[in-house]
Amino acid sequence: MLKIDRKTRMQHPIASAVVSAILLAALGGCQGTPTDETPIIPIRNMFQQPRYNPQAHSDFFADGRTMRPLPEGTVAREMAADPVTETGWSDARQSWALTVPGAVVREQGGMEALVSRGQERYGIYCTPCHGVSGEGDGMVPTRAGGAIRPPTLHDERLRHIPDGQLFATISHGIRNMPAYDHNVPTADRWAIVSYVRALQLSQHPEPTAMNLAGGTR
Ligand code: HEC
Repeated sequence: MLKIDRKTRMQHPIASAVVSAILLAALGGCQGTPTDETPIIPIRNMFQQPRYNPQAHSDFFADGRTMRPLPEGTVAREMAADPVTETGWSDARQSWALTVPGAVVREQGGMEALVSRGQERYGIYCTPCHGVSGEGDGMVPTRAGGAIRPPTLHDERLRHIPDGQLFATISHGIRNMPAYDHNVPTADRWAIVSYVRALQLSQHPEPTAMNLAGGTR
């Protein structure tokens, strides 16, 4: 090994220059220094591994594709576990779910708890426009001078739309009404649905879709 002390370096300026040059060269190859050279990696470990390029051909799989199709029934983490609960559509997306999904009612501690949660949420999110009793006489239409006209929720048609459709209306909004799928959680939207039904029944104690279907799914 090349060993230099202070004295030697003083005596041999050439040796000193050579050592400096070697050190500089070594430092010049440090991480973070931009270079076009191929990096020299003494221990390669997992630095390079065999892999396929996206869309490339593979002899390994019978269908010749490297990108594997998802196994049937795969569910992404962020995907809805139950499409009916998330969309309000019945299983085959053929018609609306007639009632609040039974699982939601159970998870929220029963219908009574769900309705009372719904009453609270309705008070927060819906009364500004639809009014406390659902007549469409909230503060917003009162102040907006006719620009926003929410219907009465006791309207013949609205009393008979399926629970799933009511849920979807709250989730996605309708025409002038805003959507609530981002700031009101799924279970709370169903809770509001159950409360709107209670509100409607309070004014028209006659069968609605929910009663006709015999309670919960
Ligand atoms: C910013 C005011 C506003 C708020 C808040 C609001 N709505 Fe509405 N809503 C409206 C308006 C306006 C309409 C009528 C839309 C139209 O037909 O142009 C409407 C329509 C509806 C309808 C009838 C949909 C149909 O099929 O015609 C329902 C049901 C309803 N709202 C429920 C709710 C519920 C439940 C909430 C609370 C989560 C809510 N709305 C919050 C303004 C509002």
